[in-house]
Amino acid sequence: MRVFVTGASGWIGSAVVPELLARGHAVVGLARSDASAETLGEAGAEVVRGTLDDLGLLRETAAASDGVVHLAFKHDVAFSGGFAEAAGADRAAVEAMVGALGTTGRPFVLASGLLGLAPGRIGTERDLPAASESPIHRRAETARWVVEQQGARASVLRLPPTVHGAGDNGFMAFYVAASRAAGRAGFVGEARWPAVHRSDAARLFVLALEEAPAGSVLHAVHEEGVPLRDVAEAVGKRLGIPVASLTPEEAAVSYAWLAPLIAADSPASGVLTRARFSWEPTGPGLLEDLVHYCE
Ligand SMILES: NC(=O)c1ccc[n+]([C@@H]2O[C@H](COP(=O)([O-])OP(=O)(O)OC[C@H]3O[C@@H](n4cnc5c(N)ncnc54)[C@H](OP(=O)(O)O)[C@@H]3O)[C@@H](O)[C@H]2O)c1
Repeated sequence: MRVFVTGASGWIGSAVVPELLARGHAVVGLARSDASAETLGEAGAEVVRGTLDDLGLLRETAAASDGVVHLAFKHDVAFSGGFAEAAGADRAAVEAMVGALGTTGRPFVLASGLLGLAPGRIGTERDLPAASESPIHRRAETARWVVEQQGARASVLRLPPTVHGAGDNGFMAFYVAASRAAGRAGFVGEARWPAVHRSDAARLFVLALEEAPAGSVLHAVHEEGVPLRDVAEAVGKRLGIPVASLTPEEAAVSYAWLAPLIAADSPASGVLTRARFSWEPTGPGLLEDLVHYCE
């Protein structure tokens, strides 16, 4: 297939591109900067220069492709107070690309998240979050829209809050840096996060593209619920700092925007995904991988 990949230069995209190429697909990657264009070229992808706001370009490139993997998201905007704006731009981009695939049954795979899916219980592929006014739920609404589409073979791949590995600059990297700065590794209550290694998530994106029927929801879950208390203990040990149970208010002082997320008990299962797609995660677990974040 000739696959259009948005976010191809990102943390997950840069693992998805070689997986696609290794499976014999051709990749067309969206790049918004010279640096990203160079990275994609070196990885063996064809480059299309543009941004998520170039809806005409997204339509045109999707229409000329055999399938789309959508990984780009305006994290820079979202995590500087503009989550609703980023989610709105994402929705417009998704509608443009799915619309361009039309009624041809060509695949569209949307990257989405698991955090907050089913608070306090194990979320499954069958859970669809209820509508709400919260900006975070605007992304979930986009995912709901995608699984309702009939024309394209559209699916949603939900990711754990930490898709971990060497070189990750995401939530875990922020958590470790903030713990180091605070001089203690904090946790809030009994919160648990699912987790997956980047290489396993990348393989599942390719399986979703190749095999997922229209309306599928896949969970890239290796570990269902790693207690964040265990993460704090492992980080504390590696950094040589004490571990502390924090109130949400105390967590907000040390962990800023990450505080509500590390307080969220959000375990999730990937049992249905593993059975349906013969996907078996083989990467290291989160606690083992923390070594890369604590160097
Ligand atoms: N990593 C995780 O643990 C995790 C967990 C849950 C969900 N997700 C979701 O999975 C997807 C991929 O995440 P990631 O960790 O790979 O993110 P990432 O490393 O931040 O990469 C984001 C990608 O989007 C591109 N991008 C950002 N703004 C853009 C714009 N305005 N126009 C065009 N491209 C733009 C970036 O391009 P540049 O390279 O030029 O910056 C980059 O390629 C996202 O939807 C994310 O929310 C990730």
